[in-house]
Amino acid sequence: MTYPPPLHDPDARGFASDNYAGIHPEVLEAIARANGGHQVAYGGDVYTRHLQGVFQKHFGAGATAYPVFNGTGANVISLQAMTERWDAVICAESAHINVDECGAPERVGGLKLLAVATPLGKLTPELVEQQAQGWGDEHRAQPKVVSITQSTELGTCYTVDEIAAIVEHAHRQDLAVHLDGARIANAAAALDVPMAAFTTDVGVDVVSFGGTKNGMMLGECVIVLDPEAVRGLTFLRKLSMQLASKMRFVSVQFDALLSGDLWLRNASHANAMAARLEAAVRDVDGVLVQRRVEANSVFAILPAAVTERLRRRYPFYVWDERSGEVRWMTSFDTTEADVDGFAAALKDEMATAEGVSPRSG
Ligand SMILES: Cc1ncc(COP(=O)(O)O)c(C=O)c1O
Repeated sequence: MTYPPPLHDPDARGFASDNYAGIHPEVLEAIARANGGHQVAYGGDVYTRHLQGVFQKHFGAGATAYPVFNGTGANVISLQAMTERWDAVICAESAHINVDECGAPERVGGLKLLAVATPLGKLTPELVEQQAQGWGDEHRAQPKVVSITQSTELGTCYTVDEIAAIVEHAHRQDLAVHLDGARIANAAAALDVPMAAFTTDVGVDVVSFGGTKNGMMLGECVIVLDPEAVRGLTFLRKLSMQLASKMRFVSVQFDALLSGDLWLRNASHANAMAARLEAAVRDVDGVLVQRRVEANSVFAILPAAVTERLRRRYPFYVWDERSGEVRWMTSFDTTEADVDGFAAALKDEMATAEGVSPRSG
């Protein structure tokens, strides 16, 4: 027997998170091919050097890529590199940096976040205006960066024009723009445009590029599009404990995704599975899908008892305890049979539920 034996069921899949998925086989093979022999550590290896050209193919000749371990690290390093000690970052209230990073931007990055309530998880120039003020006032942290997420934490996508409008508005006020692209591939697939269309081409300054949710084992990347917008990135990466010594194994994963079309295949598939799921549950009596499904997540409001029973059969998260809203995420390895089986289980549970009207959200 090979040791260690698997401790999990390799066929079990749910709808909790695209991070629950494993590694895409083509990525795993690329890691194995990069193995063997010795290579310079800390990014001096051939894979990391090659990666610069790979990212430049997607983001333009001026792009520089800094691989890191995770998305929180990419965000904190990006934002630190874009700000002075007294600066602030304007973001949506629902932004991952604001609600899901355990205060790392504040505690590790020393950053002041100025959060704005947004209906769809999307900022607009008007919403940015709510916080873009107080320059020169020593009592107020100085707005310096607008951070947006694409696709958003609520499963929506900014259009190219919406991002262009934010960037134009921000730059006019000397605010730089950071894009949290933990699911950037899903957004590009949904919009059917190259990733540069809503980043480089419209003037976004820095991107946190997501690899993990798109089929990698681990790894994200800070992509600097405007070198004038940052300083000290390499130092900040190391002091933030995000500099991988065996970086070749992070870099080669990005190469596997981005040199061909694997990034797009994975993202398009995940998006298609979310669309299939929404179509299957939209008309189920008592299930309320309030948010538009534009990338790889579906949000629905269900009776609490149904949520409880369904979660015993399939893992997924409750998004909002008060409204009963839940989040179902699809990933590159979600199958049509997974979606159909889940929709059937939901219908089952709803049929046996008493008083099926969902709580209003
Ligand atoms: C929008 C967004 N940003 C960043 C991240 C990265 O987080 P992590 O530090 O877990 O890689 C996530 C992960 O869920 C995310 O959803």
